[in-house]
Amino acid sequence: MKGIILAGGSGSRMYPISQVYSKQLTLIYDKPLIYYPLSVLMLGGIKEILIISNEETIPSYQKLFKDGSNLGLSIEYVVQSAPNGIAEAFILGDKFIGNDSVTLILGDNIFYGNLDFFYKGIKNNSGATVFGYRVNDPERYGVVEFDKDGKALSIEEKPQNPKSKFAVPGLYIYNNEVVNISKNLKPSSRGELEITDVNTTYLTKGKLRVEKIGRGLAWLDTGTPESLLQASNFFGTIEDRQGLKVACIEEIAYYMHFISKEQFKEVIQLMPKCQYKNYLENILADAE
Ligand code: G1P
Repeated sequence: MKGIILAGGSGSRMYPISQVYSKQLTLIYDKPLIYYPLSVLMLGGIKEILIISNEETIPSYQKLFKDGSNLGLSIEYVVQSAPNGIAEAFILGDKFIGNDSVTLILGDNIFYGNLDFFYKGIKNNSGATVFGYRVNDPERYGVVEFDKDGKALSIEEKPQNPKSKFAVPGLYIYNNEVVNISKNLKPSSRGELEITDVNTTYLTKGKLRVEKIGRGLAWLDTGTPESLLQASNFFGTIEDRQGLKVACIEEIAYYMHFISKEQFKEVIQLMPKCQYKNYLENILADAE
């Protein structure tokens, strides 16, 4: 299983900061937003990761993650030259994906809580697996309609009159067919290759599973300044209460056995004196 993080988009809702850097680098409490989706892929056991972003921002990600080896990962980078839609990720990632299956996560999507729904999705996927999560404002998302037995009937992108309250979060699991499906898509009326059209193609073929996620999971939105502040407050509260960090990628790399204790020590040593380093030193001490 390969993993793609799509950290594209024009970010216009984040103007004026969007003029100089991308939303996915914004600080969510104590770490960049992209750490949160990256940590989800890592917790899913995915070690080969492609980051797709615009030309200006790729160097920042390269500076942050290099080739990923300090986290026991292999991270590659590809430029998306214009916001041509989420499904373009599979065309740009064609070589990277090869003959494998692939999980795509959007660089601004945060999931916090029990990730069993994701682990099961990876394990059981044969065609495509996407999720349904109840929200108050479904019209902002891809919306899935279920019949009374819980079977998905349709998915619509940002419908004016949503057929349910269930939005499709930006976490998608596909078999290798996704590459060809994406290559055959036509741009939508907003000029984008829509992920919803990919999912509808699988649905029509009878190869789409839509699993509902329960309310115990937090799927947080980071589309606006308000929601970024809410997410920061949320993680600030949790981390302060537990004394544990969320989406701390070095800690995850160690706990997932992607790196040895020695490598973990080296990674910590390279950090400047800071609270993040103190935290990791404590994690290491606990393990010894
Ligand atoms: C995109 C997808 C939408 C999905 C959402 C999740 O929306 O098009 O189907 O529900 O991500 O975050 P956008 O990022 O374009 O608002």
